[in-house]
Amino acid sequence: MAPMNPQGPIDTLDEGALKELIAGELGAVRDRSLGLTTEVLAEDDLTGQVSPLMSPLVWDLAHVGNYEELWLLRQAAGREAMRPEIDDLYDAFEHPRAERPTLPLLSPDEARAYIGTVRAKVLDSLPAARFDTADPLTSGGFVYGMVVQHEHMHDETMLATHQLRKGAPALLDPPAEPLQKPAEGSAADEVLIEAGPFQMGTSDDPWAYDNERPVHLVDLPAYYIDVEPVTNAAYLAFIEAGGYDDPRWWEPAGWEWRNAGGKRAPAFWHREAGQWMRRRFGRTEPVPPGEPVQHVCWYEADAYARWAGKRLPTEAEWEKAARWDPAAQRSRRYPWGEAYEEGRANLGQRSLRPAETGSYASGGSAYGVRRLLGDVWEWTSSDFHGYPGFRSFPYKEYSEVFFGPEYKVLRGGSWATHPLAVRGSFRNWDYPVRRQIFSGFRCARSAREGR
Ligand code: AVJ
Ligand code: FE
Repeated sequence: MAPMNPQGPIDTLDEGALKELIAGELGAVRDRSLGLTTEVLAEDDLTGQVSPLMSPLVWDLAHVGNYEELWLLRQAAGREAMRPEIDDLYDAFEHPRAERPTLPLLSPDEARAYIGTVRAKVLDSLPAARFDTADPLTSGGFVYGMVVQHEHMHDETMLATHQLRKGAPALLDPPAEPLQKPAEGSAADEVLIEAGPFQMGTSDDPWAYDNERPVHLVDLPAYYIDVEPVTNAAYLAFIEAGGYDDPRWWEPAGWEWRNAGGKRAPAFWHREAGQWMRRRFGRTEPVPPGEPVQHVCWYEADAYARWAGKRLPTEAEWEKAARWDPAAQRSRRYPWGEAYEEGRANLGQRSLRPAETGSYASGGSAYGVRRLLGDVWEWTSSDFHGYPGFRSFPYKEYSEVFFGPEYKVLRGGSWATHPLAVRGSFRNWDYPVRRQIFSGFRCARSAREGR
């Protein structure tokens, strides 16, 4: 597992210790990026495209280095562009994913050399870098945290590319199977969250993104929320009850999606001799009943919830259940407290799958809601919008250009998300049809009918 500050929140470190942590995390994330690309795949597999939804892996690899050069060498350290002619190729807004394989991209060897040179210069300049509390870009090492998180996000995207890949498996589950097993005894199915205000978002988490800011009070009516994400077994009951064939459960756009694509099960599932199987990183295995369902789109999550007599939680309901401590009357950074702690969530690609229901019980929130971080990204019913008082920082293409009704918010990270790239306030978003991501959901319901 990558080094993370074992003592406490990042903002309790002095500048020297913070720089040490940053250097360690830059190294750890790069090991992970290379372990998903040049170390496990041949040239053709790196330059080819497995789906128009995904970039060639060699694009992701050079893009993370180009982003690092832009933010850490040019913006933060005032250096000249190293290779101005390639900037356009790796600008995500200039070229949609479908078009990327046709671009004159750096070869895998060139990409690896380029990102290595960028990294060497970054590590050279780090000791003398100024973390100025008056400069929001460098205060608390923010821009370094942004670059580390960015590479981790692309690593998760590269894992989705691996999942879509055909052919012989390239990635292995760690041999020791390090996931926690379910604890004895079973928890309640759902928890009541009483009516009242809570603090949503953050104004003081040093590495939080603009879209998580600022902290603001949101007053919610009482609701129930599931203790755990919906399992494969529960989702199978929906399939077997004819859930995919009954338009009553589906949003009109979701019913259209189901009809157009002939969808009848989560992505990567198929039936073989009467048994549901799934393909996971190139291997076929029986669908494990106790794991959270993954690779479902928003429409499927929404239809399941309606069939179950429930609904998806709003983004605010998810966050209150995850972060609000009613006794202390304040929100926590993580469900269990202020600092990341090993063993409380299935994060960081320790195994290439979600964990069984009932595991990671020590990661519960103040309300006893479990597995909010890790395992699967959780769809919420909410569109992606800025919070009241939102200010774009440091660039509007990270969040602001995506605000609007086309995107649904996902929360909590997946087994593939690194602990540095998620927290209770972290917000992800995607189109409601997407399911190559490691997405699942939990359900909620209003405590008073008709609300
Ligand atoms: C936050 C996951 C939606 O992949 O589009 C990567 C992250 N932003 N490079 C994405 C991101 C810029 C972003 N998501
Ligand atoms: Fe990016």
